[in-house]
Amino acid sequence: MSDDLVSKISKLKEQRHAVILAHNYQLPEVQDVADITGDSLELSRAAARTDAKVIVFCGVHFMAETAKVLSPEKTVLLPDEQAGCPMADMITREQLLQFKSAHPGLPVVAYVNTSADVKAESDICCTSANAVRVVESLESDKVLFVPDKSLAAYVASKTDKTIIPYCGYCPTHHRILAADVLRAKREHPEALVVAHPECTMDVISLADAVESTSGMLRFVAGSQAKEFIICTERGLLHRLKKENPSKVFYNPSPVNVCPNMKKITLEKVLWSLEDMQPAIELPEDVIVRARSAIEKMIAL
Ligand code: 13P
Ligand code: SF4
Repeated sequence: MSDDLVSKISKLKEQRHAVILAHNYQLPEVQDVADITGDSLELSRAAARTDAKVIVFCGVHFMAETAKVLSPEKTVLLPDEQAGCPMADMITREQLLQFKSAHPGLPVVAYVNTSADVKAESDICCTSANAVRVVESLESDKVLFVPDKSLAAYVASKTDKTIIPYCGYCPTHHRILAADVLRAKREHPEALVVAHPECTMDVISLADAVESTSGMLRFVAGSQAKEFIICTERGLLHRLKKENPSKVFYNPSPVNVCPNMKKITLEKVLWSLEDMQPAIELPEDVIVRARSAIEKMIAL
């Protein structure tokens, strides 16, 4: 059945001149059908440079919006329009405007996990792969950082600038507890701990490396170590195992699943290509203003 679906998807993909982009947290079979799998930064870059007419974005809503902002002339499909990001939903445009007016004159760094509306009111975007570099690139010594307080705390630990964080967080990464990691370390004393910066500082302080999802893939590939405790959404384990068959990976948490990332299935990918729906639509002025913040990030 799945082979049948895969061959229908690839035929229709050719007919529609489509490219399939998938985030590293997607279901294994969705990652395997994708043309490009990557972290948020890699997928933004891929969306900006593709020649395809149609982008099928296997990820969550803000990622598909980012692709639309960068390629407004293309059709961008999100195979399940209910696939949102709870962290991105923790700040609205109005809440950002209030935050800005409480701290007048300071530049706003928006994590890419935000709506296009929020990006449109921000100075520059960042992802987990480049957040420190983005903050360092700004002239101001004080920076507003939205919405992730954990990524903000991690960046603050790596820069002399003052970071004023918003109060958002990723519910999935916050479910990975320091106690889980300590238990995994006791059980596997040789293993290195690799953590995503959306984790709490308690977890980050136990890590040997702090990386974006694709940064984790590069770290593992380049490491002499054989065992790793992986502190992020468990979907990353698929690529880690596939690309490093001789290495062993431990998932410290029983609950590190992002339900939204798992909403995209092969069936929904096929249906989206059949119906050319659900397609992302954004107002022109939001596209123009959000694009400036995203392009400044990509240019760094
Ligand atoms: P990255 O793949 O950019 O590390 O993003 C993690 C994430 O939580 C995306 O929703
Ligand atoms: Fe949002 Fe966290 Fe899910 Fe990423 S893992 S989409 S940040 S809720």
